[in-house]
Amino acid sequence: MEWFAWDFDHPAYFQIYADKAADAATEGPALAALLDLPPGSRVLDLPCGWGRLHPHLRARGLEVAGGDLSALNLRRHAAEQPAPLARLDFRALPFRDGCADGVFCAYTSWGYFATEAENLRQLAEFARVLRPGGALLLDLAGRKFLRNAVADVEGEWLEFPEEGYEERATWTPDGRRIRTERRCQGQAFRHDIWIPTDTEVRACLAEAGFGAPAAYGGLDGRAWTGDAERWIYRALRR
Ligand SMILES: C[S@@+](CC[C@H](N)C(=O)[O-])C[C@H]1O[C@@H](n2cnc3c(N)ncnc32)[C@H](O)[C@@H]1O
Repeated sequence: MEWFAWDFDHPAYFQIYADKAADAATEGPALAALLDLPPGSRVLDLPCGWGRLHPHLRARGLEVAGGDLSALNLRRHAAEQPAPLARLDFRALPFRDGCADGVFCAYTSWGYFATEAENLRQLAEFARVLRPGGALLLDLAGRKFLRNAVADVEGEWLEFPEEGYEERATWTPDGRRIRTERRCQGQAFRHDIWIPTDTEVRACLAEAGFGAPAAYGGLDGRAWTGDAERWIYRALRR
């Protein structure tokens, strides 16, 4: 089984990421503003997870449908934030060409696949379902910030007793992917995410069918910098 089919589809995910529910109050309005689409626009929230950002997209008057691989996340979304939802894989979206005005891809939800071709395919699928001129918001971890944050603790198990889990982060020898192992609820998990350079992000967006993106270095829309914690791209489908 590919790691992302297991790590996110387990109740431990909600425990480990419990603080992200509260973070939604700041991330949701800010990211929805950066998507910058008029009320009534049709937006695909991909991946939607458990729907923590959904109300903030709706609050801007957007017509939102969500999609995610995790049935567990989709069940929680349906219970807490009823909406049109689809279980899907980024590599083959079950939507018609050009059906959306926007794709909203929040919180480091690109780079999960093992091959460059599959990661490119995800962006190409986003481009396919967008109408020409439609907007993709791609919210990624800043590579340099993450490298610095991990540098002092790489390879060490860190305990989070209140949250009830422990974790250890290591970069792959080629420095391209970060692997985060976690132990929680008696189970083992391992995220394995490609953390691209800015040049790689831009090259993939171009190859997938997007124009040159606007890039932001924070939720407040500040200018992109190489050492920013978040790299947020807004790209229009050509
Ligand atoms: C870090 S979470 C972000 C969710 C949401 N955007 C948010 O900010 O709360 C990543 C999500 O991607 C979903 N996912 C992982 N691999 C996927 C795939 N191949 N296709 C579709 N969704 C996937 C997971 O189930 C999980 O809900």
